[in-house]
Parts: sequence; structure tokens; C-alpha cells
Amino acid sequence: MSAELIDGNALSKKIRTEVSERAAALAARGRKPGLAVILVGDNPASQVYVRNKVKACEDAGVHSVLEKYDASLSEAELLARIDALNRDPGIHGILVQLPLPKHIDDHKVIEAIAPAKDVDGFHVASAGALMVGETGFKACTPYGCMKMLESIGLKSLRGKHAVVIGRSNIVGKPMAMMLLQADATVTVCHSGTADLGHHTRQADVIVAAVGRRKVLTADMVKPGAVVIDVGMNRDEAGKLCGDVDFDGVKEVAGWITPVPGGVGPMTITMLLVNTLESAERAAG
Ligand code: GUN
Repeated sequence: MSAELIDGNALSKKIRTEVSERAAALAARGRKPGLAVILVGDNPASQVYVRNKVKACEDAGVHSVLEKYDASLSEAELLARIDALNRDPGIHGILVQLPLPKHIDDHKVIEAIAPAKDVDGFHVASAGALMVGETGFKACTPYGCMKMLESIGLKSLRGKHAVVIGRSNIVGKPMAMMLLQADATVTVCHSGTADLGHHTRQADVIVAAVGRRKVLTADMVKPGAVVIDVGMNRDEAGKLCGDVDFDGVKEVAGWITPVPGGVGPMTITMLLVNTLESAERAAG
């Protein structure tokens, strides 16, 4: 058996076209959506991510402001910038690229962002809203994974068992919450879970988000299961790969996301969706 691919590039393109139409409609009313992206320091991966986010905004007709600061920026200066952006009516989303330099407290910075502009969905208010089923912003990567499931007819997961491997605040925890809200039975594992395969073999849906290669191998997957790979790693040859042993697992799974071209493009797409949502709420 060979799994069908869930193509993140194709799904992103479709959703980004809808985002462009919504952005144009807002712009026509003089309410062009705006995203502020803040980068502190010169982390090479962050520079690439930030560039891709700004480019995606441009392509979708979303105004973007990129603020780059030297790694010596103080926490107080960063908080002052966020305060100004919170009050800027032309900005509907504020994204502070992580990780931040060590002398800056990530949590304090995220909590300084107005929840109404927290398009990353990292604020405690956003996480809390998700937990109790209220309107807030959903963290972009798990939100993108849910859209991928929806694209193959799995909007409702009633009667399905989903296993999440990984428990980060950015992916694993919000992912588990979103799967629960879609009525799945959810098991949250991590890289240290004893006999991980015992859990994953029962799953109809597996989301791997550990950040380590070959966390999930073919013997750990029930035939026909849906496998979503959030990992972004490099193999021995320096080639981009996920957390899933793709070549093995694709022979067992029913559906699988590739790396690259799977979850990756969806994260930025959902950032655009959240920014549009924020601008539409502000426009009334
Ligand atoms: N660093 C790695 N992923 C992300 C993300 O989704 N948002 C932000 N702000 N920083 C990140």
C-alpha cells in the first residue's frame, strides 16, 4: 500500500487565494489588513522565516512592517515597541519571531501583545480561549494541520483516536486541544513515552511534532492511518526531513504529509488567515 499525499503547497495556494480576495475587499473599504513582524538578533533560521512571512503578506495584499533589531535590544525597548503597535490602528497582527535573545523573557513579551492582535496564538488568553472553545486566535501550525485533515474530509473526528507526539506550547498542546474540539479521542505522548508504538498503533490520526528524525517508523503505524509530520530536521546528507520515516511509513499509512511541502507552507498560510480575521473583526 502506498499512502496518498496531503499536499501543503496546493492547499496553501487555495487558502491564500481566498485570503487575497478577503484582503482586497477590506482594502476597498480603506481597511487594508496589516501585520507587524519583529525580529531581534540574527538567528539565520529566523531570518528566513521572517522573510517568508513578509513575502507571503506582499503576495496576498496584506500590508506588512518588518522591524529588525540588534540582539542588544533591551526587553524594555521591545515592550515599548509592542505597546506602540498594540495602539496602531493600521496593524492587526503582531508577531515576535522566536527564539528571542536570552536576556529577554519570551513569556513576558508574548503577554504584552494585545490578545486581539495575537495572530501567532501564543498569548495565554489565546490558549485559554482555545481550551474553553471561545473565539481567539489559533496557533498557526496546529491550525494548519487541522485544515489539512479537513481537506481530506476529516473535519469531524468523532469516533477517531488521534495521537500527538510532542507537547510544546507552540504545537503539541494546542494541537491536542484542536483535535479534542473536533471530537477526537486524544492521546498526548512525547519522545520519552514508554512504548510509544503501543499508543501510535491505535491511532487513526498521528501528529508527529518532536523535532527529531524517525520518531515514527512503519511498525508504529496502523494500516490506513493519517500521518501529519510537523518536524523540520536535516538528514545525514543535509537534506530537509521530518520526524517521520517517510519512505517506510508511506507504505502503511492511508495519508501522509511530505517534508518539505507539507505542514511548513500551511503555518504561514494560517498566519495570513489569522491576520485577515483580526482585520475583519476590527473593521466590523
Ligand atoms: N519560531 C518558530 N516558529 C515560530 C512561530 O510560529 N512563530 C513565531 N513567532 N516564532 C516562531
